Order: sequence, then C-alpha cells, then structure tokens
Amino acid sequence: MPALTALSEAFGLGIDYDVFDWGADQWLATGTGLPPGAIDRLARDYGAVFLGALGDPRIPDMAHGRDILLGLRKGLDLYVNHRPIVLEHGVIDLYRENTQGLYAGVGGSITRSGTVTVAIDECVYTRETVERFVRFCLARLRRRGHRKVTLVHKSNAVPNTGTLWQDVFRRELEAFPELTGSEEYVDSFCYHLVRDPTPYEGVLASNLFGDIISDIGAALMGGLGLAASASICPESDFALFEPVHGSAPDIAGKGTANPYAAAMSLGLLLDHFGHADAAALLRSCVTETAGGEAATPDLGGKGGTQQFMDQVMTLLEQKL
Ligand code: NAD
Ligand code: IPM
Ligand code: MN
Repeated sequence: MPALTALSEAFGLGIDYDVFDWGADQWLATGTGLPPGAIDRLARDYGAVFLGALGDPRIPDMAHGRDILLGLRKGLDLYVNHRPIVLEHGVIDLYRENTQGLYAGVGGSITRSGTVTVAIDECVYTRETVERFVRFCLARLRRRGHRKVTLVHKSNAVPNTGTLWQDVFRRELEAFPELTGSEEYVDSFCYHLVRDPTPYEGVLASNLFGDIISDIGAALMGGLGLAASASICPESDFALFEPVHGSAPDIAGKGTANPYAAAMSLGLLLDHFGHADAAALLRSCVTETAGGEAATPDLGGKGGTQQFMDQVMTLLEQKL
C-alpha cells in the first residue's frame, strides 16, 4: 500500500492500516475464511476494508471466497454496492443490493442415492432492505447531480421480488422530484446498455443482476481490470473497497494483471473518508499511467502490474 502511505503522509490524512492474510492459504490450512470474531473486531477497531481479489484454483467452488467476501458483506451489513461504470460520455452509477436476493443463502438440495436431484437457491428480499437501499441510492444519485434513474428487474418471470422492488421504487421516487425514474427488464436492459449506454445515469439492481451488469459495464469501460467498487453500510458508515474482478486465473503468475481497478478502489476509499483532493490526485496518476508506456496488456500496453504501480508512485512523488 505505498500509494496510501504516501498520500496519507503528504495530505496528513492520518490513515493507518493493518494487513490480514485471509485467503486461500488460510482456508486450506485451517478451514476458516474469516477468523472467529473477525466481524466484531473490524466493526470495533476499523472504518473500512480494502480487499484484494479472491479466487484460487485449489478451491474450485470458491468456498473460501464466499466465506470471506459474502461474510464481510453480510456480517458488516454492507448492503449498498456502488460500481461506477466510467465511460467517455460520463459515469453510469450502478448500485447493486449486496446482501440479499439470490445471495440470501436460503435453499438446499435433495439427494437420492448420492446424486442431487433437486437444487434450490431462493431469491429473498425483505421490504426493509429494499426500502433502505433504494432510499439511500436515490439520495446519492441526486447528490451526484443525476437526473435519471433506472430500476432493473425481472417482474415478468420472477414476480414476487420483482413487484416488491417496483412498488418500493415507485413510492420512494415520490420524495425525489428531481429524478425521473424508468423501469426495465434486466434482459432488455443489458441489450440496450451494450448497444448504447449513453441514456443511462443511475441504475439500481438486485444482487445477482447487479453482479452481472457490473461485468458488462466493465467490458464497456475497456475491461475488468478497470472496474472499481465500494460496499457501504450507510448506518454505520463502515465500507469495503475492492476491484470488481476476481483472481484472473488465465493470466495468473504472468505479472500482467492490471492494478487500475484496485487503485481506483483506493480512490473510492479516500473519497469515502472525505479526502477528495487525495483521491483526485491518485486518480490522475492512475489514468496518466494507463495512457502511457507502463500500461498493462489488457490496455494494449507492454507494462506489468509492478511497472504500472511504480509509475503511479513516480507520478505521485512528482505531484505531491
Ligand atoms: P475474473 O474477474 O477473475 O476474470 C475474468 C476475466 O477478466 C479474465 O479474462 C481475466 O484475465 C480478466 N481480468 C480480471 N481482472 C483483471 C485485471 N486486473 N487485469 C487484466 N485482466 C483482468 O473472473 P473469473 O475468471 O470468472 O473468476 C476467477 C476466480 O475469481 C474465481 O474463483 C471467482 O470465484 C473469483 N472471483 C472473485 C471476485 C472477488 O474477489 N471479488 C470477483 C469475481 C470472481
Ligand atoms: C463480485 C463477485 C462475487 C459476487 C463472487 C466472487 C461471490 O463476482 O464481487 O462481483 O458474486 O458478488
Ligand atoms: Mn462479479
């Protein structure tokens, strides 16, 4: 975290951090992802988590990742997941509900003679969670100067949760006359987003839809190496920052993974703590690096992960 240290010292931010080695190695050694008491300790002693991408071929179903990542999101009640889709025409602010829906952990399976014959994953939404999510996101969109907000749903095929979301969206929108709401089925939304993203400003989505849309958004941005995210609990103000991408196994070990998304997630962390100047400076160094010789191959460059971050540090030191 040399970038954070440099920025914290130069701007007098007083940000201190500890590093925890929660991940695949710990899971394989101990069978635990999040150590006992981790959530309470984080909530008590820290204000935020900066999380690296998870994923390891030794654990094919990502059980450790579910335990850690979904454990942190649910345990810390980080129900607002902001995934900005940064495009040439502007930013589409995608907000994904982050704790319920198909990720509620409700379901099971029926096994006959050792073979799973029925598998069930329930999509569960409480009105309370949809309401607090929609209300917070609409306020955020208004503050960010947006005029339009689109609810993405699938009420034609998944009517119970779909109509709950529509009902809450319509009611909550009444308190935001500055915002014009529209509603779109998720399949048609994805189609339109890829064909022409320019009409969209703010987008609200349930958990799985938001997960999928954020990878489409990343593709529109130029790749998963570019997409940053923030998961927030508005009530406690605790937040988690991480790239949208996973461990990129197809390029693992090559030293060419793009650190842009992780660095931009650090920018979101600085913004969250009210350090807009430091965040802007970091962003300018990262975008400048992405347009230069140290750019990674996904951006058409010949640089590597380390070279990219070395260049970011060089620029930071020049500008600080
Ligand atoms: P992935 O996001 O790791 O990779 C998808 C594609 O994007 C790959 O082609 C990869 O090379 C590319 N990519 C991703 N990050 C990149 C970067 N920084 N620079 C350049 N290219 C990049 O998705 P996957 O392959 O489906 O998943 C791999 C593992 O990661 C799985 O175990 C999955 O469960 C896990 N995963 C974790 C997270 C997370 O920690 N938040 C997110 C997604 C997937
Ligand atoms: C993401 C990831 C996670 C999710 C996985 C790894 C559990 O895809 O953060 O986008 O589905 O939320
Ligand atoms: Mn995802």
